[in-house]
Amino acid sequence: MSLPAPALPETVSAALAEGTTALGAYSDTPALEAQTLLAHLAGRPRPGLLAHPEEPLSLDVAAAYRAALRRRALGEPLPYLLGEWEFYGLAFFVGPQALIPRPETELLVETALGWLKAHPARRLAADIGTGTGIIAISLATRIADLHVTATDVSEAALALARRNAERHAVQEQVRFAQGDLADALDAPVDLLCANLPYIPSAALNGLPVAKFEPRLALDGGPDGLDLIRRLLADAPAALTLGGLALLEIETGQGRRAPQIAREHFPRAAIEVRPDLAGHPRLLLVQT
Ligand SMILES: C[S@@+](CC[C@H](N)C(=O)[O-])C[C@H]1O[C@@H](n2cnc3c(N)ncnc32)[C@H](O)[C@@H]1O
Repeated sequence: MSLPAPALPETVSAALAEGTTALGAYSDTPALEAQTLLAHLAGRPRPGLLAHPEEPLSLDVAAAYRAALRRRALGEPLPYLLGEWEFYGLAFFVGPQALIPRPETELLVETALGWLKAHPARRLAADIGTGTGIIAISLATRIADLHVTATDVSEAALALARRNAERHAVQEQVRFAQGDLADALDAPVDLLCANLPYIPSAALNGLPVAKFEPRLALDGGPDGLDLIRRLLADAPAALTLGGLALLEIETGQGRRAPQIAREHFPRAAIEVRPDLAGHPRLLLVQT
């Protein structure tokens, strides 16, 4: 005989107490996650919710909150429960068909924006493996005359990226194309951006992220460099003269990735930049 489910929380404070306890074992920030989830489900800003802990909760909200806590306790990432996540100051729809945007990728976007501002005549860009579309859309929203081709092998990811482009009103600037790496480009570009899958296959099997996020977005082959290696081989033909390639890399690839780049770009200026933690994170190839 199964035990009856505990009564649903009736107030904001009861719900937050339940959520904080329930998520304690799964999150480093259980109180914040509980507040974020409840605010999202109640359709209220978080500060407003916290200002009125005595407020009653509707049965619908309380039940949806309890269900979300159960999914979170099974390891499902918070962004998938919320259906959206912030990247570089913008909110993006997210879902299990694409990688959740990571703050590490902001380094690539920031570097790309700096270069585009310094090169106002160079306005053709590509985002290879666009996923949710964060790179293409973040650039297009900041550079009004930029045209970006955003590619992915996954049609499901592209559908999500298109919704994000509409959300941020850049559908005129971003063209989406399905295909393998640079094959989907119809002309060389000035700026080639990519955050491709770069986790070594064997390492991936033990990682919690592989349980919920698509393997297609994570698996970089035996040494994690399969896709980066292939894109760098295609990059000389995909870039205009004087163009720039920016590739996010895994922290362990800081030596090997520039060596591969050098094989294909004997005369380019090649550099690896660190992230805020000081780990190698971004490969730059200035042709
Ligand atoms: C690490 S995710 C990055 C997504 C997004 N650019 C971001 O930064 O969050 C890599 C993306 O590359 C796509 N991908 C995998 N193999 C590909 C290929 N051969 N050609 C194009 N895209 C590919 C995946 O579907 C996934 O969306």
